[in-house]
Amino acid sequence: MLSFNYYPLTLVLLVVGCLSTNHDYGRAECGLAHPAYQGALTAESHDFPGVTTDFDGITFALFRIDQKTGIIGDAFPDSPPASTMATSLDGEMLNPTVLISRNPSPRVRNFEPQVLRDSTSDYVQIFSGTGTGPDDRDASIVGLAYLAYTLVSNSTYNVDECLSFCDSTIGCVFVNLYYEHNNPLLDYVLPQRSNLKCVAYGDVHLPQAKLNFGYQSTSDTIKGPGIHIQQSTGWARRLYSNPSTPDGYEALSNLDGANDAPGYMDSVFLTHYDVDACAAVCNNWTPDDVGGSCKYFNIWRAVVGVTPIAYTCSVYYVSADPSTAVYRGQGNLTVTESRGYMRKTHILDGGFEGYTCDDPTTTFCFTHTTNAWLASSIWEGYYDASIFHYKPYAHSGHSVAVLGSAFGYDDYPGTLTVASSLSTEPGVIYTIELFHSRSGEDREVNGFVEVYWNADLVGIIYPGYSQWDYYQFEVIGRGNDELDLRGGRAPTYDFIDDIFVMRA
Ligand SMILES: *[C@@H]1O[C@H](CO)[C@@H](O)[C@H](O)[C@H]1NC(C)=O
Ligand SMILES: *[C@@H]1O[C@H](CO)[C@@H](O)[C@H](O)[C@H]1NC(C)=O
Repeated sequence: MLSFNYYPLTLVLLVVGCLSTNHDYGRAECGLAHPAYQGALTAESHDFPGVTTDFDGITFALFRIDQKTGIIGDAFPDSPPASTMATSLDGEMLNPTVLISRNPSPRVRNFEPQVLRDSTSDYVQIFSGTGTGPDDRDASIVGLAYLAYTLVSNSTYNVDECLSFCDSTIGCVFVNLYYEHNNPLLDYVLPQRSNLKCVAYGDVHLPQAKLNFGYQSTSDTIKGPGIHIQQSTGWARRLYSNPSTPDGYEALSNLDGANDAPGYMDSVFLTHYDVDACAAVCNNWTPDDVGGSCKYFNIWRAVVGVTPIAYTCSVYYVSADPSTAVYRGQGNLTVTESRGYMRKTHILDGGFEGYTCDDPTTTFCFTHTTNAWLASSIWEGYYDASIFHYKPYAHSGHSVAVLGSAFGYDDYPGTLTVASSLSTEPGVIYTIELFHSRSGEDREVNGFVEVYWNADLVGIIYPGYSQWDYYQFEVIGRGNDELDLRGGRAPTYDFIDDIFVMRA
């Protein structure tokens, strides 16, 4: 092992040693296997940033699912609002706990109810009913985003009570009020003794969605003549606010369409336009081998003609931006209400792309300090950790961190540290993710990387040769946390790129 603490001398000695080929490092002829000489072996390149959004697949699936509902069967009134459910593109129902595990209330938060409603003027009537004469017949709404229903007093056609119900139902933006005649459940069973139904939705429906003309109850306990519907009116909230941004995300400004962007992982359909539910899908999506975890989601409403048919939630492992929000639909399908949310990282420059060479025509350079990172060695080591600008070394982009003496002078591990502590919060669970590869002249068995969170060892990347692999570690924030990575043992080099620290 060579170790020097007088650097200029070190350089001279090494060059001499190289000429005489009298050195320890096997095939490392003239130091050429070391990163400082652009020599270290690197992992295979791969498909980053990956494929763009599969709109053909989404559209194909959109026309096969049907998430339109009204009240289901003989459901009882005043049940809790329906939770958001998710269906994958191949029609499989996703585990609902995925959606509610982190958000106790994954309601349609985009439509926050007004705090006060002084009069019916907070609502506009979207359509009227067809009358209450003995032969008048009407139909109730069958549409997306059903939430709940109640029975309002039928001593009058009680619009006010129905709008109050909407006010008190989280996520409600629209109600359908109608008489349902000959339903024995309403006439004889329920204590309200009212046939005036008020049904709350998380989306606005037009009269084209009046599709339920009554039915014959199929329940064993409830039999009777055919049910029919009268005086079906629709009322929409006049104003509602933008969705509140989910924890751990940053909202993009308004999008003109759906993102046609790289790093596309997959899409699901939600039963409600529920930004929190889409965030939960992103947080829980299985990380991609090449791109890592979900970093961005795009939620949008699919409309055919005037009818909303689905809410699409698409997840990506790289963040998209408004310039790619160009997909407006195809055929009879229109994209509306498209919104994008970036997952926040608490690491500045986790991809090291902030480091470039002073001379922009140069494609190779390295350093031990950038604005965001400090790469350090023990006192007798030299460049045991460094940041390289050299595309062949990088997992994505052009820059990367390398642990292990860049010149091959010593076999001490180096340390990579964040230049300033992270903007984290106490008590929050964070995921650290990174990509790692290791190469080293068949000596990868000597390699290791240790991950420290506030000087606590939270993970080890074990010895052995490695192509670019994905790693993640869970930690709890104390606030202003510190992250260090220690490892490398020249001629074994550990390459680290695309570090993220995000709310789990
Ligand atoms: C109110 O609803 C009850 C239960 O369905 C029904 O028996 C009654 O006739 C209704 N009253 C009016 C005024 O429509
Ligand atoms: C819209 O187009 C799809 C696919 O081409 C078709 O299946 C569907 O019936 C159409 N719907 C309407 C309302 O035109």
